Amino acid sequence: MLPAIHDTGTGEAVLFFHAFTMDASQWDHQVAALSADMRCVRVDLWGCGDSPPPPAGAPSLDTFAAAVIDALDSRDIERVAVVGLSMGGYLAFALWRLAPERIRALALCNTRAAADAPGPRDERLAMADLVEREQSVESIVEPMVARLLSPGAQAEAHIVDPVRGRIRRCTPAGIAFAQRAIANRLDSTALLDSITVPTLVIAGTQDAIVGPDEVHAIADRISGATYVELDCGHLSNLELPHAVSEHLSTFLTPATMTS
Ligand code: MLT
Repeated sequence: MLPAIHDTGTGEAVLFFHAFTMDASQWDHQVAALSADMRCVRVDLWGCGDSPPPPAGAPSLDTFAAAVIDALDSRDIERVAVVGLSMGGYLAFALWRLAPERIRALALCNTRAAADAPGPRDERLAMADLVEREQSVESIVEPMVARLLSPGAQAEAHIVDPVRGRIRRCTPAGIAFAQRAIANRLDSTALLDSITVPTLVIAGTQDAIVGPDEVHAIADRISGATYVELDCGHLSNLELPHAVSEHLSTFLTPATMTS
């Protein structure tokens, strides 16, 4: 089942993958900054944003990545630069595993390569069960805000209110699918050695979900990767939209990438 696609601008294609509990609108600022020169293609995970509900079957990020390839095919998009934040990074790894020839560059933000340890994995599965049982995402809104944003950003209504809104727009089925699919994901640490395209890695010094050391380790394993550390929490592109857009703009300039 094809995910919803938001297709803005013309030029070389850039595919954006959003974080868990977010949707394509997470990238609004970056699309506004880049779409004069690039074709910005954003997908919504099943059950989030404008996408249809998750399909039946075992929840898997690989299944979603395969559907994204079908969606790119349906729009005659051959190669993309991929920008992924957190869960979006897990999806970027899934896409690289499936079709590396389709990827011309990678921007990995606030993400990790390792699979879950047993404790965090159990917490994910418990959240999936909770939202399904309650048929509501309301009880996860404030705990997610506290994890996703730095204390400073939590005090900024223009940052925190849209984050709450995006979480509330996810369906219980979408949240449950995402948590189970993330819990089932493969460890991508060894995959890092196979990444040969230009790569930008962005970390947040106040990231409560993936600390900067773990993000830095990704850049260390990818040959030639550029590492950038910003003073922000997990959702770097929402806390520091101008800085992230500028780093992406510089990185995605055609001269810096193989064609
Ligand atoms: C995200 O922001 O996508 C999530 O925090 C990912 C995760 O829970 O591992």
